[in-house]
Formats: sequence, C-alpha cells, structure tokens
Amino acid sequence: MKKRSLVSIDDFSTEEIIKILDLAAEFEKEPVRKLLDGKVVATLFFEPSTRTRLSFESAINKLGGKIVGFSDATNSSVSKGETLHDTIRMVSSYSDLIVMRHPIEGSARYASEISSVPVINAGDGANQHPTQTLLDLYSIRKTQGTLENLNIFMVGDLKYGRTVHSLMMAMSRWNATFNFIAPEELRMPDEFKLYLDNIGLKYYEHTDFTDIISKADIIYMTRVQKERFSDPMEYEKVKNVYVLRNSMLKNTKPNMKILHPLPRVNEIHVDVDANPKAYYFEQALNGVYTRQAILCTLLEINF
Ligand code: CP
Repeated sequence: MKKRSLVSIDDFSTEEIIKILDLAAEFEKEPVRKLLDGKVVATLFFEPSTRTRLSFESAINKLGGKIVGFSDATNSSVSKGETLHDTIRMVSSYSDLIVMRHPIEGSARYASEISSVPVINAGDGANQHPTQTLLDLYSIRKTQGTLENLNIFMVGDLKYGRTVHSLMMAMSRWNATFNFIAPEELRMPDEFKLYLDNIGLKYYEHTDFTDIISKADIIYMTRVQKERFSDPMEYEKVKNVYVLRNSMLKNTKPNMKILHPLPRVNEIHVDVDANPKAYYFEQALNGVYTRQAILCTLLEINF
C-alpha cells in the first residue's frame, strides 16, 4: 500500500498545503466527526511536549480514532537500549500512523523509511516542525486574509528554532519579505538564507527591531531554547535578549498579529496577552483543526 509521510514542509506541494488549510477550516466549523473509526494512531514523544502531543491526541479523539504511545521514552523499551529502528518497526505493526517527536535531526526521515505506515514529524531536533508550520499558515491566512506578500518578522532563536526554519521555507512560496531578528549567536543558519537566495527572495538581518516594528504584518516570537545549548553560559548570555512588551506595540499595523509556537518563557511579557494583536493562544487552538486535516490527508480519508 502506498504510504505518504510528512517529514518536511517541502513534502507537500503548494496546492496540497492550501487543501489542508481549507480542510482545517471545515474542521473548525465542525470538529467532531467520526472519520478515524477503527484507526489506531501512535504518538511517540522522545522529547517533552504540551501542545503538539495534546492537540494531536485531541484531534484523534474528535475524529473517533484510538491512541497508543508514550509521552516519555523512559517508560518504553528505549530505556533498555532498543534502537529507533526496532521501535518504529514494532509500532508500525501496531498502528495506522505514527506521530513522532525526537531530539535528533533527521530522525523523522529515518523513521519514515523504516515504517510501513505514514510518519508525521512532530519536531526533529533543530531541523523541522512541519505540522506547526501548517497551523502557523492557517493562523496567518485566517488573520491576514491572505498568505501573499506579507512582511514576516522572526525574532529570537533563529539558529535552533525548528519552527522558524519550517515556516520560512513555507512562506517563501507566497513572496514573503523576511526580517530576521536575532543576537549574533542565534542568527538564521546560512543554509536557510541560501534557500532564500536561490529563489531570489529578500531578507534582512537585525539585532534589534524596535525601530522597524511598524512594518510588520506578523511578528513571530520564539523562545531561546535552553535544551539546545551545550554550554549553559552561552544560554545565560542570550536568554532574555528580546522581551516584547505592550508599550512596544503602539505604532504597529492595525492588523498586525503576534504569533509564538509556545511555550514562552520571558520573550513575550504577560502585559501583551490582553492586546488584540496577541494571537498565540488562538494559534495553538488552530493546531487541533489543522492536525485533524493532516491526519485525514495522510490516512487518505475522503469525506
Ligand atoms: N509548539 C510546540 O511544539 O509546543 P510543544 O513543545 O508544547 O509541543
């Protein structure tokens, strides 16, 4: 049987992405539909998660499917030394689809090559987080009315941030202009800038954004990820480098929206939460509808 995995956002064509966003809009209108009756979905989380795991599990429940898996690999036979190869081989015989988060870059692609069922990458190290990107695209289209020609500010940890890597690749399909705001230590890696160079898209790099904030359509804040630093002193140097405060939003565009994949630490002050431009909690809710659409697409459920 042909199986289709989602490992990188580039695994989907632009037409397929738009179809998923349209399907997600249908699920937002009517989330409870028993389309996965009889299906078993495995959620294998080798790294901590709140939103990705729980929104997938919420999506599966709303669709009438069943869930097996673990949220902590120390409770699985991984703790006895079982390899990723053998874990995936076994779990793919127990389930119809695998959702996997793993700390090693490339692990999701490897799993998809071993598995006999579709694999969804729920984040592989600093590499990619394509389902986050699809819910980000859904949130951007819903709030801006379009994905075309937007000015996207990405702020914070652009080096290790898998969400910004996936989102940048996706938004480049709709002629976005990118402003990358990061400290020297956490700049967008060259490979992603080369990606934009090769398709002729403009990007600008900054270490501060207070003077240019009025140009943003979307401000995508990110957490400086402590768990990706091998040297704790390096983390201490940059951990509070950007803190978005309500007072900074006075001269922003009326329809500008602030997104964040969450969890946040200090990078968005709580005084922003009540501002109508804060959209990060709604963004996380959109993850349920978007993941319903992704599950149905990969399981080839027609309705
Ligand atoms: N956005 C995101 O991936 O959040 P979690 O780490 O809580 O899943």
